[in-house]
Amino acid sequence: MKFLIVYFSLLFFICGFVAVHGKILRQRFVLQDAPYTRLCGSKSILTVNGKFPGPTIYARVGDTVIVDVINRASENITIHWHGVKQPRNPWSDGPAYITQCPIRPGTNFSQRIVLSDEIGTLWWHAHIEWFRSTVYGALVVLPNLGDQYPFPKPAAEIPIILGEWWNSDIREVLREGLQSGSDFNASNAFLINGQPGDLYPCSNSDTFKVKVDSGKTYLLRMINNVMNNIMFFKIANHNLTVVGSDAAYTKPFTAEYVAISPGQTIDVLFVANQQPSHYYMASRPHNVAGNFANTTTTAILEYTGNYTAPSSPLLPTLPDFADEVASDSFTARLRSLATEAHPIDVPQTVDKELLFTLSVNIFECALNETCNGPLQGRFRTSLNNITFVQPRISILDAYYNRVNGVYEEDFPQNPPFPFNYTMEFVPQLLWIPQNGTEVRVVEYNTSVELVFQGTNILGGTYHPMHLHGYSFYVVGRGNGNFDRERDPSSYNLVDPPLQNTIAVPRNGWTAIRFKANNPGVWLLHCHLERHVTWGMEMAFIVREGKSQDAKMLPPPADMPRC
Ligand code: C2O
Ligand code: CU
Repeated sequence: MKFLIVYFSLLFFICGFVAVHGKILRQRFVLQDAPYTRLCGSKSILTVNGKFPGPTIYARVGDTVIVDVINRASENITIHWHGVKQPRNPWSDGPAYITQCPIRPGTNFSQRIVLSDEIGTLWWHAHIEWFRSTVYGALVVLPNLGDQYPFPKPAAEIPIILGEWWNSDIREVLREGLQSGSDFNASNAFLINGQPGDLYPCSNSDTFKVKVDSGKTYLLRMINNVMNNIMFFKIANHNLTVVGSDAAYTKPFTAEYVAISPGQTIDVLFVANQQPSHYYMASRPHNVAGNFANTTTTAILEYTGNYTAPSSPLLPTLPDFADEVASDSFTARLRSLATEAHPIDVPQTVDKELLFTLSVNIFECALNETCNGPLQGRFRTSLNNITFVQPRISILDAYYNRVNGVYEEDFPQNPPFPFNYTMEFVPQLLWIPQNGTEVRVVEYNTSVELVFQGTNILGGTYHPMHLHGYSFYVVGRGNGNFDRERDPSSYNLVDPPLQNTIAVPRNGWTAIRFKANNPGVWLLHCHLERHVTWGMEMAFIVREGKSQDAKMLPPPADMPRC
């Protein structure tokens, strides 16, 4: 009898444990070079398992996925699980020289992807140099078995991953840009699920196609992995209903088009309720500064049944590339679902107020070099006037093992020189930033408010800001300079969207709030690749709390070494 009780309570313990913490899944990611043909030419690209885009990971809420990353390619690599909070486990987060050293060719690293409350669409990508241009894929977090979506059950779920393609080797694009100090070469195409679509040369057979049945509802899991642009997306004649973003449910709203930032995910429903035919889905960039090619990537929606297909599908009219109102107004419509079944937890009070300026800057050219950036200098970017300099070992390693001289803890809480950030002509004196490997230390459980403030240095632009280790509530946004006296009164503390990436409008500001309850080293950066390359990043060190479950887990034994 006693044995039986022990047996049952043990069984209960194990089952209870599994139910709370989800399943453990395992997957292999083999990094390898593979030849791919696009736009009339062929080149070798870095891939996962030879696939482009890479494999989709499917999991359920609260699962842990162990990914064995095996580097059989010729380059150093790291993989980041974008939007996964990784509670207490910064070791598997992935940004090179922030939480780990690169995985060298011929070596492996088993990463633990610890899901908690994320639900919906996330993704993964390389987090070193510009390799995310080809090393990326979807990470779909389904509801627990027996749980329903808070929207009509779709007949099918279709990932729509936007990407960007250069005909030349991506290492060359990066190298040339860094050498000249000017902007990087524009890409040759945008992609939907790795395919440019038939508006580009030699791309008739490189078009993604979706078959739909009349009257049914479909879910598009949209991910923007474009390197340098917010993207507009639209389906000819079909309205879209937004139901989620960044792995959180949103209040449904109907839109004719989507504006999606690099790093962001948007889940949309559409109903196949039009005349059976073929329709284009199309996507093209939104750009207000920088080199880019104004081209359009397409996929085709094909109704099943008997009808005469048109010789060319109907093309939707997308917002103009320069249409900031179209982009900003879409982003401003996002709201948390915030129902009893899907409650939210917006910090109503704040312990720490931070204000970070976001700037594109220039550096003087060194004496023995020629630079082709503005004023014969080099492009740089900064947060609070600091251009991030990559350390020689990871900040997490240095912090955990108390290695001195790798980073400093002086990242400013406020702009070091306040000025009229969005004035028409910012004096040249303010164009040059300072170099530094600076972090901001935050005590455990601090309720943080961070205001991103765009500046008009060198002409302003938007910045899709992304925070690792957290999702945050976007409580406010506006044009011009943030005013601490006036603007908080307009905050939405009722149903603000929960995001991990948010586009800060050109010459405007965005306020976010989060509770610093995940100890570790967490990167904050602009998700435009050119901006992050020029230094628009910093890291938070969130200290451990007193209780055992407020401490970081120990580092895994196979952590890559520098
Ligand atoms: Cu999607 Cu730090 O990245
Ligand atoms: Cu930026």
